[in-house]
Amino acid sequence: MKLLEPFALNGMTIANRVLVPAMVTRLSGEDGLVNQGVIDRYVRYAQGHVGLIVVEATAIHDAKSGPLLRISDDRFIPGHRELAARVHGAGPSKIVPQIIHFMKVARSGWRQTIDMLAPADIDRIIEQFGAAAGRVRAAGYDGVELHSAHAYTLSSFLSRHNKRRDEYDGRTLEGRLRMFGKVMQRVRSVVGSDFPIGVRFLAEEAIKDGYGLPDAQRIGLRMAQMGVDYISLSIGGKFEDAVHRPGQPLYPYTGYSGDKCMPGDWYPPLPHAHLAAGIKAYINGKGFQTPIVSVGKISDPSEAESLLAEGKADMIGMARQLLADPDWVRKVEAGRPEKIIRCIYCNVCKQLDENFKLVTCFLWPKGTTQAPVEDESGAGPHWPEGGAGLAARVRNGAIALTWKRAEGAEVTGYDVYRAEDDGTAKVVEAVKAPKSADRVVLGGLTYRYHVMAYDAAGRHSPPSNSVTIAMPMPDLTERPPASSETSHA
Ligand SMILES: Cc1cc2nc3c(=O)[nH]c(=O)nc-3n(C[C@H](O)[C@H](O)[C@H](O)COP(=O)(O)O)c2cc1C
Repeated sequence: MKLLEPFALNGMTIANRVLVPAMVTRLSGEDGLVNQGVIDRYVRYAQGHVGLIVVEATAIHDAKSGPLLRISDDRFIPGHRELAARVHGAGPSKIVPQIIHFMKVARSGWRQTIDMLAPADIDRIIEQFGAAAGRVRAAGYDGVELHSAHAYTLSSFLSRHNKRRDEYDGRTLEGRLRMFGKVMQRVRSVVGSDFPIGVRFLAEEAIKDGYGLPDAQRIGLRMAQMGVDYISLSIGGKFEDAVHRPGQPLYPYTGYSGDKCMPGDWYPPLPHAHLAAGIKAYINGKGFQTPIVSVGKISDPSEAESLLAEGKADMIGMARQLLADPDWVRKVEAGRPEKIIRCIYCNVCKQLDENFKLVTCFLWPKGTTQAPVEDESGAGPHWPEGGAGLAARVRNGAIALTWKRAEGAEVTGYDVYRAEDDGTAKVVEAVKAPKSADRVVLGGLTYRYHVMAYDAAGRHSPPSNSVTIAMPMPDLTERPPASSETSHA
């Protein structure tokens, strides 16, 4: 499998093509220090054999924010040194932190924008990126990733919303690229040519008048020209369309661009794969082989493999899926992909982040702060005498499913599999109680379901009985309920 082939990045060999992109954990306190919880979170990915671990956005400056890791001073180095060493000690994973500069936001809704920065402020930011990257190398990390995505400072220079009219002029692509160029040059001069520098930027801003694929292809090309060692893509996550909640600072993932950044369960799988493919094809066509990381609702090993095999990406980024199950790679290596706890993209993790709460996964056993460790010994859950008794019936335009509680080990959830007509069965839902309602079903089609229970140690029950149900066409002569009648004045 290409997915499991090693990969060389500027002298660093990554054991496989899987990357966990940066994901804020809110495990660090306001002090910005690495603590045991932070170490445990990243060691867990290493135990699961994730090729490249990107540590959550880590601030290069002291600006106030909620709980966030920092590397803005030498006093933060020992904690990061411990984190890198513990990850290296846990397996073959490589680890790089994502370093970030962000602008001020106020609870009133006011926010600082890059056109408010004086030239001296910009020079200071460039210096801060260089100094932070130096600390990253001193801490023993394998490389560094520059956060140039979403609503943050470097991304705002690249944006079509950049209002500057000086050398960083937002009206030209070259003006928009200038800040990144200076930062990259500074960081490279500090860390040296043999230290991998990755970048994360937006393949699409996903806001009104924001940039799309054509600009992103050229931004990516400039990054390749500047010797970036990998390009990790993201989408949206901007302030421009964020929804302001009174008394709260703006959170850049509350609008449509936030939806695109962390696409929820209603999005199809791989909604952004074409953007990574478009950027990769363009850069390769200009003679650059800079590795491209595709991201966005990738969770199925065969779909991930296809992206690599078809040349649409060089690496696979999975954020929420690896949060749900950090053992994804290990299970694929062992030929047990069916044991993967599949992310259902419910975005509880996103909501926790938004509220500055500890980021955990809805699928983990209640009350735990880290992903459970898989235990293959002993029996997993099993169905009671007489079977699972899975039953389906049509109710109010949905298909309601019920089954019996699984027994044995402590059951933490059930995966619901569905096949439409003669298609293959895929996980459509994960639930904690033995019932579910499938609301995205269409009259005239036939659906086949089965469920599997899993326990805290990741052990699955055998599949339940399967049920097939034909969804009837709606009766359009039926009157809708009175409450939904519209009156026309
Ligand atoms: C809780 C949470 C925190 C995130 N924090 C970051 C971050 O610090 N830096 C970043 O570039 N992206 C961040 N992201 C975005 C993810 O890296 C990723 O791009 C996004 O979740 C889509 O990938 P997925 O579909 O595999 O989850 C975060 C996402 C989530 C859900």
